[in-house]
Formats: sequence, structure tokens, C-alpha cells
Amino acid sequence: MPVPISPFDRLRSLIGDTPAGAPVIDLSVGVPKHAPPDFILPVLAASADGYRPYPAITGTPAFQAAIHDWLDRRYALDGWFRDVGAVLPLAGSREGLVLSVVTARDLLAKDNPVVLHANPYYQAYLGAAHMIGAEAVGVPTPPTGSPLPDFSAIPDATLDRAIAYYFGSPSNPAGLTASKADWHNLFDLAEKHDFFLFADECYSEIYREEAGPPAGALEAARERPEALKRLIVLNSLSKRSNLAGMRIGFVAGDREVMKAMTTMRNQIASQVPVPLQQAAIACYQDEAHVAENRRLYDAKFAAADAILGPVFGGPVTPPGGFCLWLPVADDIAFVKALWAEAGVRALPGSLLATGEGAANPGRGRIRLAVVSPYDEACEGFRRIAALMQREGAVRELAAG
Ligand SMILES: Cc1ncc(COP(=O)(O)O)c(C=O)c1O
Repeated sequence: MPVPISPFDRLRSLIGDTPAGAPVIDLSVGVPKHAPPDFILPVLAASADGYRPYPAITGTPAFQAAIHDWLDRRYALDGWFRDVGAVLPLAGSREGLVLSVVTARDLLAKDNPVVLHANPYYQAYLGAAHMIGAEAVGVPTPPTGSPLPDFSAIPDATLDRAIAYYFGSPSNPAGLTASKADWHNLFDLAEKHDFFLFADECYSEIYREEAGPPAGALEAARERPEALKRLIVLNSLSKRSNLAGMRIGFVAGDREVMKAMTTMRNQIASQVPVPLQQAAIACYQDEAHVAENRRLYDAKFAAADAILGPVFGGPVTPPGGFCLWLPVADDIAFVKALWAEAGVRALPGSLLATGEGAANPGRGRIRLAVVSPYDEACEGFRRIAALMQREGAVRELAAG
């Protein structure tokens, strides 16, 4: 079986060579476009010597200390995790998300393993299952409210075969945030069926100031330390510091699990260059640029509520992440019409989820990544509002 085709490739095929109906506004790809902090370049230049030797797979002691300090501050861990856990640098959280499945498979050694994932999903979850030849099973996550999925739809026999569950908070695409109680529910399930919970927290710092910072998996695990044995947390600077191109993040987990992950990574993964770790230390020690980043997103989401709220029947802003997840009658038809008539590129929700027809939980939604500069994003919202007001026409187009 070939690797699953990415939603972006499928979008390209969907749009084909249809010309854009207006100057292009691309809201389909979640690439951060705000400026990264300006202290990065001097740090990289000052540590250029660090490019010469092979870096250690474990990261430098200074990098590890900076991550522990940040986790302590962000989640008020009071040194608990420093004593029982460990962190490793990653070349972005994606490779950690994917490779964690190797550690889960090796440690749990289940026959015929299943990889559970939130559905809609982030494409790496499917790639990970594919890599180890496991069956990927999507667990439908709701579009609003708590991001907790409905596990009752999954037979116990399947849950027992699971080695991991991929779960994001804030979630992508819906931007929903897990409460501590939600994390505890997931810990219950991971314990009952003996699988790892992969906490994808790469959007942890992208939240509406009004909603406040989302609870973290480690914050909840502190209240129930045995949960750490089945928890792997992944995060990065891609969204927090607008450094997606630098490819740097970290994985955090139980010390013994991280030992297994280090052994595995030492044979499979690339080490993270020391200058990048130095730059990451500077980023994690600074919160001012992160608050400014949130302020820029908050302004765009306020505009989204003002422009799109009236046509979508109320506020559209989620508590976290940088995407809008909007209901439409037919997501495929709407995205095609939006491109052909208004030049706005959006992602149809059904391409972000598995399942046919009504069983696809992304059906009837479109995802907009609110990454463009303010004026461009507002222009995109206005064009979407105009098309929504003519949605009857889009329905007809779908029927035809
Ligand atoms: C939900 C989710 N998880 C993980 C990632 C991976 O991000 P990175 O590898 O840049 O840390 C992304 C990137 O878009 C994402 O949307």
C-alpha cells in the first residue's frame, strides 16, 4: 500500500488548472507568516562553530535545561517533571510524532498493532502508521466544544490492539483545547487499553488571550504521575516563534521511555545542529515575541468574527490554533467555487479526515489558516462572506 496522499496534493488535483477568479489569497496552508524574533540571527552567528562536530542525539545540557525551565514555567510543574522525565531535541515536532510510533511499537510489542488518531487528522499520523505497517483508525473528533473524540464507536478489541493515540490540543483544524479533565479521560483510556498517548501540542502557545493558555498534558500528568509512563509530549517553535523553517522542537516523556526513544533515534534520526539548539534556547527564554504573535492572531480572529460571524450565525473564532473551521453545505463544491470565483484557496474538510460520505467527520467544513497579514486575511474573509451569502448557488453547483 502506498503512503497516503497528503491533503495538499489532493487539493492541487481538485483545483487542477482552473484559474483563480481574483488575485490569489492562499489560506489553505498552515505556514506561519508573522516575523520570527529578531534575536535569532545574532545567536546563530555567534554559535556557528557548533556546526562543525556531529551534535549529540540527546541535545546539549543547556538545551535540555532551557526546555525543562520552560515546561516548569508554562505548566507550573515546580520541578516535578525535571525529576522524573527527560527531553530530546527534534527537527520539528513532525519527525518526533512519526518516530514515536517506533518506540511505542517496540515497548508494547503488540501483535497486529493499531494506531489511533484524531479524525480529522494531521497527515503525519497516517504516515507514522504506514511506516510501521500498522492499521490506522480514525476516532471522530467534534467540530466544537471539547476536542475529546467519541471512542464508543471503536470496538474494545481494536482499542486493545492500539499502541498509540495521536491527539492534538489545540487541535488542528478545529482549534479546540483539552481541559485537564479531558487529559485525565485520555489517561484513563490509555491505561485501560495499554497504549501511548501522543500529545501533539505544537499549537500550545497559539491561543486567544481571552481564552487563556490551554492545559498541557504534563500539567495533568503531574496530578497522576503514573500516566507519564504512557505519555509522549511533542512541541516545537514552528508556530510559537514563527520558525517553521528552522525545524526545531522537542519531545518530552518519562525518563525510561525517553531512553528507549534516544536509542532508537540514535540509529534512525538526524541530530539537531547545536546553533539551532542555541537559537531555541533564546526563544524559549523569551515570551514577549510569543505574546506579540498571539496579539496579531487575536486581531485577525476579531476581524473574522466581525466579517464572517453575521453570515455563519455567530462567532467563528476557536479558543486555540490559527485556523477557522467553518461549516458549509458542501466543502468540495465550496472550495472549488471559492477559488474559481474569488481567488481564495481553502482546504475542504473532507480531505483532512478519513471516512467515506457521511462517515467523514471533515465533510461540510472548510479550513482556513489565518496566517496571511491582517489586510489580506480580512479581504479573504470578505470574499468568503460574499460567497456564503450566495451559498444557494454553491449548493446548486454541488448538485450539478
Ligand atoms: C497538528 C500539527 N502537528 C504537528 C505539526 C508539525 O509541525 P512541526 O514539525 O513544524 O513542529 C503540524 C504542522 O503543521 C501540525 O499542524
